[in-house]
Amino acid sequence: MTSRRLILTRSAALMGAASTGLFLPAAAQAQSGKLRVGFMLPYTGTFAQLGVAIENGFRMAINEQGGKLGGREIEYFKVDDESEPSKGIENANKLVQRDKVDVLIGTVHSGVQMGIQKVARDSGVLSLIPNAGVHAATRALCAPNVFRTSFSNSQPTRALGKAMYDRGAKTAVWITWKYAAGDEAFEGFKEGYLAAGGKIIKELGLPFPQVEFQALLTEIAALKPDAVACFFAGGGAAKFIKDYAAAGLKGKIPLYGSGFLTEGVLDAAGPAADGIITTMHYSDSLNTPRNNKFRLDYAKAFKAQPDVYAVQGYDTGLLLIQGANAVKGDLSNKPALYKAMEGATIDSPRGKWTMSKSHNPVQDMYLRVVENKENKVIGIAAKALADSGAGCKM
Ligand code: PHB
Repeated sequence: MTSRRLILTRSAALMGAASTGLFLPAAAQAQSGKLRVGFMLPYTGTFAQLGVAIENGFRMAINEQGGKLGGREIEYFKVDDESEPSKGIENANKLVQRDKVDVLIGTVHSGVQMGIQKVARDSGVLSLIPNAGVHAATRALCAPNVFRTSFSNSQPTRALGKAMYDRGAKTAVWITWKYAAGDEAFEGFKEGYLAAGGKIIKELGLPFPQVEFQALLTEIAALKPDAVACFFAGGGAAKFIKDYAAAGLKGKIPLYGSGFLTEGVLDAAGPAADGIITTMHYSDSLNTPRNNKFRLDYAKAFKAQPDVYAVQGYDTGLLLIQGANAVKGDLSNKPALYKAMEGATIDSPRGKWTMSKSHNPVQDMYLRVVENKENKVIGIAAKALADSGAGCKM
């Protein structure tokens, strides 16, 4: 009697296991459920609009595929990282440990990215970086499961110095938020500007995300450089542009920057932004069929104009689509997934780009000037620019 009940119980358990998929081969099992996609982005604070643009761009790429990835339905999870580095690891773990995402998409802020990088390296979760440029992510701390679709922090500014010098700026003041993104942007600027023959008179800075620029602008007026170069982004960038003009510096000391300075802020900044020259891997005015269609579709879908962040989110979607298609939705097939993503050519609104060995875009840098609320392309500042990937071993 006892043994019969035991057998019955066992067979019931077996049937239960079969119906929940416990006996399916791993690959079939991985493809059976929804693919879990986690966004870890800033939805509040000075970078809030950047997070929204990235998510919009990503969803647009997926929607162009009928809302699926590698044939699988998607379930989305979201965490607001507040651009707060001290909560980076905890927030990444909400998606990885609690929500068990298959892929983590994030983030904007370089300091927060360092938390994601640790969680990605410890857990092995697929991590796609749609903005944050922190060097370590694709240099010393690079990893097979981490891919960046945006830029490294020194990439956009590397080509800026020569463009400034060629326009007559023999001396410059640099100003930024003092954290990895600003400091590494300075590295790129310094290298290019010194090589061109320029002289950096002073480096100025304030803590992220402070926007009390007045004392620093007064100092710039007293230093009288030929030009000012900077890294700012988001809400802080709009305020910097307006304060620069209000302090009487616009028209006297030309303002340059990495292109983030004038992305997504031109409506807010108004005429104060006219004439600012920047270098960036995208421009709204790129007159290609690819970019024109992207801009039209984005504007229709989101009732807003896309910017570089929207493009980076979109390209994150394009990269993941290529990877997921190669493994028919089975993201657990990591060697094939990574191989497909490493070999991908992304047909982006910014122009075609490829992945470097350390998983960072190899891409063109455009020289742009702001005219009437638009970033107009006035040249190519660098062709197929790659980050060094120094110290990356995989
Ligand atoms: C960064 O922190 O890496 C960062 C943030 C905003 C940008 C660019 C880089 O626009």
